[in-house]
Amino acid sequence: MQVMAFSPTGLLSLVVFMVLVVEPHPAYSSSRGGWFGRNQGAATPLVNGICAASVTIHGYKCEEHQVKTQDGYILNMQRIPEGRIGGNSSGNKKQPVLIQHGVLVDGMTWLLNSPQQNLPMILAENGFDVWLANTRGTRFCRHHVSLQPSQSEFWDWSWDELVSYDLPAVFDFVFNHTAQKIHYIGHSLGTLIGLASFSEGHQEDQLKSAAFLSPVAYLTHMKTALGAVAARAFVGEITTLFGVAEFNPKGQQASIFLKALCNYPGVDCYDLVTAITGKNCCLNASTVDLFLQNEPQSTATKNMVHLAQTVRDGVIAKYNYGRPDYNLMHYGEARPPIYNISNIPKDLPIFISYGGQDALSDVEDVGQLLDNLKYHDVNKLSIQYIKDYAHADFIMGVNAKDIVYNQVVSFFKNQQ
Ligand SMILES: *[C@@H]1O[C@H](CO)[C@@H](O)[C@H](O)[C@H]1NC(C)=O
Ligand SMILES: *[C@@H]1O[C@H](CO)[C@@H](O)[C@H](O)[C@H]1NC(C)=O
Ligand SMILES: *[C@@H]1O[C@H](CO)[C@@H](O)[C@H](O)[C@H]1NC(C)=O
Ligand SMILES: *[C@@H]1O[C@H](CO)[C@@H](O)[C@H](O)[C@H]1NC(C)=O
Repeated sequence: MQVMAFSPTGLLSLVVFMVLVVEPHPAYSSSRGGWFGRNQGAATPLVNGICAASVTIHGYKCEEHQVKTQDGYILNMQRIPEGRIGGNSSGNKKQPVLIQHGVLVDGMTWLLNSPQQNLPMILAENGFDVWLANTRGTRFCRHHVSLQPSQSEFWDWSWDELVSYDLPAVFDFVFNHTAQKIHYIGHSLGTLIGLASFSEGHQEDQLKSAAFLSPVAYLTHMKTALGAVAARAFVGEITTLFGVAEFNPKGQQASIFLKALCNYPGVDCYDLVTAITGKNCCLNASTVDLFLQNEPQSTATKNMVHLAQTVRDGVIAKYNYGRPDYNLMHYGEARPPIYNISNIPKDLPIFISYGGQDALSDVEDVGQLLDNLKYHDVNKLSIQYIKDYAHADFIMGVNAKDIVYNQVVSFFKNQQ
């Protein structure tokens, strides 16, 4: 279930998965007017927020915060300041950890497993001060100083803006509150924006180390039929359907779009679950249910197009306006500028964990990313390969604590 995937194929995978899990037959009839039958509409009402819904009910303290980006978006963050027993980990000041989710989901995906199994609570129990970021456009981040989500201007952004505005805003906010350097954790798109941002030298003074789970940077090896078709469609046809606007995966247009893709010659959505998403080894059915009640969430169509460009072009570059003169207008160059991953400071402690079954963070693409990091200080780069893991196992795997999170915890503790 590659739901938290950041890519068009991820979205489709989710749909396919959902169809299989919730409505085994027929493969994609959708008579109820949407592919996500249970939850229509962009924002699932969950009035009391993520803290109340998923954290305090387990006996943890949790604070809701509002963070304003320089371009006017009001983002919502959660903070779990300590473990359940309080505990001031040997009197030391707790180190902040900032956790960034992927595309089409929000911070709640980290909290769906039990307190003993989920990453934020495990970090809190280990003496960290945990901050969950939520990306603009997701259900608690649909406010702006002057724009409304109903206006297309509200959705005029791609992951470039997550790099230039969202990340700096949340980093500044956490840094101001804690006066300490921050450990960063990203999953999926959360890794891409982290890598892009750190390669540009942003956050250098605020960043202590970075853990990238299911790292996404290069995407060329997503070469299944549906992947290719979806990327092509997103670059081309999709804007006719959506315009520069909200991409609501639960909406009517998304449903039409996905049906059209599934009718492409050579694309069999029924078979694609495993072929595209990779086979997650270790998900809990009740957690998946909970997931489907809360996700997927909206993003900007332009963001999806930008991701499709990344699949198509094989480079990690800024949004391509599609015409040399438009690019010239925006960047002063005919081609969009590249994010050069090799420019990430060589002494930044980095932990990378990737899965052998992960079709979105393909092993070959991760190889290319690692090649970009080949001059990184050897003792600052830890790499973990998990043969059986696919994309969603990293956030919801029932054994992720033993396999991944404990490694993340010791990696962070080694930086102290
Ligand atoms: C936390 O630290 C304070 C001051 O150092 C101390 O008085 C208190 O007992 C500690 N609490 C716990 C639970 O360790
Ligand atoms: C952080 O603190 C600096 C300096 O006091 C201030 O300029 C900045 O606006 C603050 N940022 C946030 C997000 O609170
Ligand atoms: C799966 O989730 C349910 C509900 O949270 C829980 O009771 C069960 O113990 C979980 N199973 C595993 C293997 O973690
Ligand atoms: C990226 O930067 C490295 C040095 O940090 C340089 O050797 C390489 O040529 C650059 N790549 C691109 C595509 O600009």
